[in-house]
Amino acid sequence: MRAVVLRDFGGPEVLDLEEVPDPTPEAGEVVVKVHAVTVNRTLDLKVRENGTARGVTLPHVLGVDPAGVVVALSGDVRSVEMGARVAVLPHIRCGQCEFCTMGREELCPRSRHIGVHRWGGYAEYVSVPAKNLVPLPDELPFADAAVILRHAPTAFNLLRGLAGLRAGEWVLVMGATGGLGAAGMQVAKLLGATVIAGAGATARVDSALANGADHGVDYRTDDLAEEVERLTGGRGVDVVFENISDPALWPKAFASLAHSGRLVTAGAHGGGTVELDVRRLYGRRLRIIGGAGASKPDIASALDAAAQGKLRAVIDRIMPLHAAADAHRLFEKEVVLGKVVLDPTMARGDAG
Ligand SMILES: NC(=O)c1ccc[n+]([C@@H]2O[C@H](COP(=O)([O-])OP(=O)(O)OC[C@H]3O[C@@H](n4cnc5c(N)ncnc54)[C@H](OP(=O)(O)O)[C@@H]3O)[C@@H](O)[C@H]2O)c1
Ligand SMILES: [Zn+2]
Repeated sequence: MRAVVLRDFGGPEVLDLEEVPDPTPEAGEVVVKVHAVTVNRTLDLKVRENGTARGVTLPHVLGVDPAGVVVALSGDVRSVEMGARVAVLPHIRCGQCEFCTMGREELCPRSRHIGVHRWGGYAEYVSVPAKNLVPLPDELPFADAAVILRHAPTAFNLLRGLAGLRAGEWVLVMGATGGLGAAGMQVAKLLGATVIAGAGATARVDSALANGADHGVDYRTDDLAEEVERLTGGRGVDVVFENISDPALWPKAFASLAHSGRLVTAGAHGGGTVELDVRRLYGRRLRIIGGAGASKPDIASALDAAAQGKLRAVIDRIMPLHAAADAHRLFEKEVVLGKVVLDPTMARGDAG
């Protein structure tokens, strides 16, 4: 098969297409013919730059969330049939820790990741554990399924589960045109919230407004906390959907919280170390909540909403596998509005 095999860490140029043997399914596994896999800032670009911190061993194939068709099964797999349309969930839980044994697998501290700790979907075929498969509704295209499952379950976990978002509340979504931000905006609307979209350029604020935000703020030119105060009549927002951790933006996002508000985050690509006003934290009874991943009900909610047309995959473009390096370069130019998806079934010259 053709696969983008990482033989060295480095810039986008290390992403070369090559011929490697087709995978065969090990016990409990199936082989999926990949029709879509998303490109992610942290799990793809950072791992490509230097995956050693995350325990990546070379040679490696990126791609955390392939979606496609089952084309081979190991003899012991009964849960899925040949030809099934599926998406692949990225986490491989340990199955033994205190969280896994009480059915809270999403909290597993020993979780391994497809596309990080084993070969992923930047390839024509990938072998994965059958228990990581999610059957897809016929009407959901592979690219949409990969994008929805990449971020919407996490958004449900963060907003509904951890922040306890209720209908009628106000939410500030940071990075509202990013992958997780776009999903968070839609999930917040589904849960009945009023959404303020924060983004770092006028075009991105406009794009968020076109994708359903009620209000928008360019937090690189306007004072975010002041704008939120104005929009909410001096009250502030009940929930900040943060996920960036940029030292210049985070204190402003935190200062946008109403009394008893909650800030949730599952990301730190903007830096990761920020200043915290502790007096404000306890004085206004605020909560800062970290989270990651998603539970089975979150995954089900995301797929149901997508199948009913209530959640839309925001896709910037779909590119063939041989263009993986160009796909990564798009993020350096910061022109991405929504998700970039690779489709290994696309021939040279096709464009999505
Ligand atoms: N733990 C989990 O389960 C989980 C799952 C998915 C993603 N994540 C994390 O969530 C975060 C967002 O992921 P994503 O896939 O949505 O990324 P993305 O599509 O690249 O979006 C990131 C957004 O962050 C904004 N941003 C603000 N300050 C930034 C800075 N200094 N550098 C770069 N971007 C900045 C950008 O918008 P503006 O330029 O408009 O501000 C951009 O839209 C990442 O940290 C990722 O690791 C976590
Ligand atoms: Zn575990």
